[in-house]
Amino acid sequence: MQANRLNLTGKMLRRATPAVGLAALLLVAGCRQDMQDQPKLIPQRGSEMFADHRGARPQVLNTVARGQLREDSYFYTGVIQGANGYREEQDLMPFPVTMEVLKRGQERFNIYCTPCHSRVGNGLGEIVERGYKPAANFHDQVRRAQPVSHYFYVMTHGYGAMPDYSAQLAPVDRWAVAAYIRALQLSQAATLQDVPAGVQVKSLSEVAAEHNLPASYAQPWALPSATRAQAYPNDTKQGTPAMAPARPADPKISIPASKPAPVAAK
Ligand code: HEC
Repeated sequence: MQANRLNLTGKMLRRATPAVGLAALLLVAGCRQDMQDQPKLIPQRGSEMFADHRGARPQVLNTVARGQLREDSYFYTGVIQGANGYREEQDLMPFPVTMEVLKRGQERFNIYCTPCHSRVGNGLGEIVERGYKPAANFHDQVRRAQPVSHYFYVMTHGYGAMPDYSAQLAPVDRWAVAAYIRALQLSQAATLQDVPAGVQVKSLSEVAAEHNLPASYAQPWALPSATRAQAYPNDTKQGTPAMAPARPADPKISIPASKPAPVAAK
């Protein structure tokens, strides 16, 4: 019985072989190399097509690629060409500031600037708390007196120890953040003259009393103390920059078993 069945399979195979062979032949014949070898340029590879044998083509002189016409140079640079030949910053937004713009600015600011400048913009962000050069306090007199396009310029080019944010923030976002810095400044230094006519002003303690909030609501803001979790609290060789102040009070966090335990500091 067993032998019979084997015999049958063998016969079937033998009969099927020519059909399989034909199908394979057809498949191979259908596969031409055109797709593989199409005349295309591969990035950063040479090419026989151009005299200089470069696949990557330089921009054509005196032309502007579609979508790259930066006609509004103030919008893209934050400076204008002054009469004295120097570039000048301006206290001027290149587009109207709406609530939407401020919200976008706040969101971007909280993502990219707070690590160093803190949410309130006083320059004492977490990274500074850990030993980075103190970032600018946007509420000091020097910073408040700066024109709004200065903030755009600083984000575009960096400033001293501060890296630039031109890769992370498109020009329109840099302006939104600049506008939000102004809003932050106003939040701490507004005067009665800044209030539009006809608008009633209440003191914060009045607001607190009306809404049953604790009296501390009306007190000036303060940052929470810097006792936070830190990966390798007392080990200056791992994780913590050597320049960071020692923080013996920092709580130790437990390190997952998959990671090697830190070497104990001596
Ligand atoms: C990695 C930390 C860090 C981040 C993040 C950072 N800054 Fe700064 N920033 C600094 C430091 C440090 C200084 C002071 C630079 C100096 O004096 O060398 C500074 C200075 C400034 C100044 C003042 C320049 C002047 O004329 O005095 C502005 C404005 C500013 N930052 C805006 C921003 C904005 C807007 C962002 C977010 C897009 C940002 N910074 C993100 C560290 C940072």
